Amino acid sequence: MVQASAPGKCILFGEHAVVYGQPAVAVAIDQRLAVKLEHCNDWRIDGMKFHPQRHPHVKALMDRLWNNGPPLSIKISGDIPPASGLGSSAALSVAAAAALRAGRGRQIKDDDWAEGWTASRPNGVYDGPWKSEIGDEVEHGINAVDVDEASILAHAVEAAAQGGRASPLDSSTCAHGGCIVLSNVVEKDLNWLYSRSLNNVQWQVHSIQLSPVIDDVWLVIGNTGIHAPTSKQVARVAEILDENPTRMREIETIGIISRRGINALKAGEMEAVGRAMSENHLMLRNLGVSCPELENLIVAAAPSSLGVKLTGAGGGGCMIALTRNPKETSEAIELAGGRTMISRLAAPGLALDEFSEPPLWNPFE
Ligand code: PMV
Repeated sequence: MVQASAPGKCILFGEHAVVYGQPAVAVAIDQRLAVKLEHCNDWRIDGMKFHPQRHPHVKALMDRLWNNGPPLSIKISGDIPPASGLGSSAALSVAAAAALRAGRGRQIKDDDWAEGWTASRPNGVYDGPWKSEIGDEVEHGINAVDVDEASILAHAVEAAAQGGRASPLDSSTCAHGGCIVLSNVVEKDLNWLYSRSLNNVQWQVHSIQLSPVIDDVWLVIGNTGIHAPTSKQVARVAEILDENPTRMREIETIGIISRRGINALKAGEMEAVGRAMSENHLMLRNLGVSCPELENLIVAAAPSSLGVKLTGAGGGGCMIALTRNPKETSEAIELAGGRTMISRLAAPGLALDEFSEPPLWNPFE
């Protein structure tokens, strides 16, 4: 039996502007999703017959990691609400990639990988076997799992499931945890992790070491319960910019605010982080991606918070409040009709929760 889990995410700064190359900052949240794999007589998911077309992410990962492998029972559990911009599909993809890898093992040769996917390949995304040699050893469990590989595979299958469009922000944040910055340039003073490219777009992925003094602030996430597709919201911004190209200045201003937010996060100046979040929200509201339901929750949360903004694509979905009084802020949002979750800032990333011998499969035998 194998179980792996990964956190959800929310965007602190830079949504929409990131589509035009500005930096975006996401943090992993405490809410997680777990994938448990066990032997079974036929393919099952949460006790029901597994229909690959209903689970494109899992199917795409099985094609890469479980070709001709024995049938499994897949159980998905967790507390990340689906389709609300909190990274549930990326968390599923990251956790499933790690669970399948732990269960099938990895070929090793001379203490080195003999197969797998790695960011050190020039084009970053799914790229076939790393080395062609046949390994002489197979490692299962935690020794086989690699965070970067799970992140790459999750990005590849997210992109495949979304018609070729997906930035690596969700997959990287859900895999690595902590605080991740995506930009179209290598950002000075940040910890550069790797670049990723897809369909001729290249992103630079960085992590930020947050100041250790942030342990007395929380994020309260308020869910409007309204589902607004990301593609529709992105198209709306594109139209606005098309009609009036001078509004690109607003996108650039969001980039400036994100960079200010990043510096405040590094310095542990949480009041400044909050101010930058609220300013970022005003820009998003002006761009037309908020909605009355989000505004309602934001107004309710503001008096007890350091900063408030919508998070993700907007038009519905979730807002976030940075606060030192999570109970008070959460109650205010609930009274205004939102469903809330409380999270630390920058929760841990991918984890292999359980692994019991014997391994589920050894494809090299
Ligand atoms: O769909 P979400 O909530 O993970 O966020 C979308 C973020 C956008 O900047 C609006 C779109 C994008 O591809 O970056």
